[in-house]
Amino acid sequence: MDLFEKCDTDAGYFGPYRHAGDTYLTRPVLDPQPGNRMLFRGKQHIMWSVNNYIGLAGNEEVRQVALDAVKEFSVSAPMGSRMMSGNTEHHLALERDLSAMAGKEAAFLFNYGYLGVIGTIASLVGPDDTVVMDKLSHASIIDGVLLAKASGAKMRVFRHNDAENLEMVLKRESRDTKGGILVVGEGVYGMTGDLANLPAITEVCQKYGARIFVDDAHGWGVMGKEGRGTADYFGVQDKLDIYFATFAKAYASIGGFAASAKKVVDWIAYNARTQVFAKSLPMVYVKSLHKTLELVKAGEDARKKMWENSKKLKEGIRALDYFVGEGASPICAVFTPSGDEEEGARMVGYLREKGIFVTAVIYPVIPRGLIMFRMIPTAAHTDEDINTTIKVFAEMRNDLALKLPVSQEGMANIRRAYGA
Ligand SMILES: Cc1ncc(COP(=O)(O)O)c(C=O)c1O
Repeated sequence: MDLFEKCDTDAGYFGPYRHAGDTYLTRPVLDPQPGNRMLFRGKQHIMWSVNNYIGLAGNEEVRQVALDAVKEFSVSAPMGSRMMSGNTEHHLALERDLSAMAGKEAAFLFNYGYLGVIGTIASLVGPDDTVVMDKLSHASIIDGVLLAKASGAKMRVFRHNDAENLEMVLKRESRDTKGGILVVGEGVYGMTGDLANLPAITEVCQKYGARIFVDDAHGWGVMGKEGRGTADYFGVQDKLDIYFATFAKAYASIGGFAASAKKVVDWIAYNARTQVFAKSLPMVYVKSLHKTLELVKAGEDARKKMWENSKKLKEGIRALDYFVGEGASPICAVFTPSGDEEEGARMVGYLREKGIFVTAVIYPVIPRGLIMFRMIPTAAHTDEDINTTIKVFAEMRNDLALKLPVSQEGMANIRRAYGA
């Protein structure tokens, strides 16, 4: 059989949509300028799918720094990987500032969060070691863990956000593992918006001598004092062995970093293959991220507005009998019964026709029989955006005769899956 035969079928991720050449539900084509309103198919939509938490996308001060950097360095500098010819004082200075913000001794930059997570986990976990992963972890964590497994490490999974279940796993693994143990998970779970129970999870890790890695993609810039993240919010940042974050969300840029003790960061810098063998982060990002970092630190007013908007949106949609996740992050996860994919697509289409852009999440990411609209309230949203959205959700409930509220059984499923 020819390797490419599968490409003619509707197999693979979202295969039927790919096969039909869809650019509506999957890979929707949007006007690039991120904000509370965006053009989709030439028509303005209220946007709930971009992670512009504190409204920094398009910030004029960042734009000016970026323009100056492009004037000075164009888009090519520096050339080569950090290890060979791509290291600069500016990269080192940014790493120093990031490590200070994250309350760790040192930090190492990656070009993407996704590659950073993979590189960090795979660089540290090898034969004889065990990696223990939260069941609802992001694809980058799963791929990092699989790479570690391929190198001979043992892989274990614990029930989402369940410190007791983690303890059961660690009790056994701390006895059976010859090497070390790394526990991995997120700070804010980006799909459902629930926070990792870091006080309990870090305590269990400490008890069994396991190291802990937290990918705080959705918490960095959002949670905690000055946006220092989810562990800072819980007062346990010092209990994390490796803090990881990306610039693709609240920082409205690109790249990521791992922060830890200096010797660990040095190890990662020399062993994380996803960066060792890749060109270093371009100057335009390195320079502008310094400015972004300043703005995030000083961004309390924007965070306050984001929280207010999140509360208004969650309360408004909850009052319509949709089930809204109870996670303590700004993310608004709206669950509603949905018989099949078609019914889900009808709801997304309904919202889009009415100018509301949301992303839908279906089985297997969430329990069967439900659809989830994952909405990101930001500081850039207005009361009008929120009120119009709530009104359209009310119309959808009536026009599509949705079976609301979600049944007790459905809610129990959601709670079991997410601890929501
Ligand atoms: C938890 C988590 N980790 C990593 C990533 C990947 O980050 P990046 O977009 O910077 O590659 C994401 C983005 O979706 C994420 O949500």
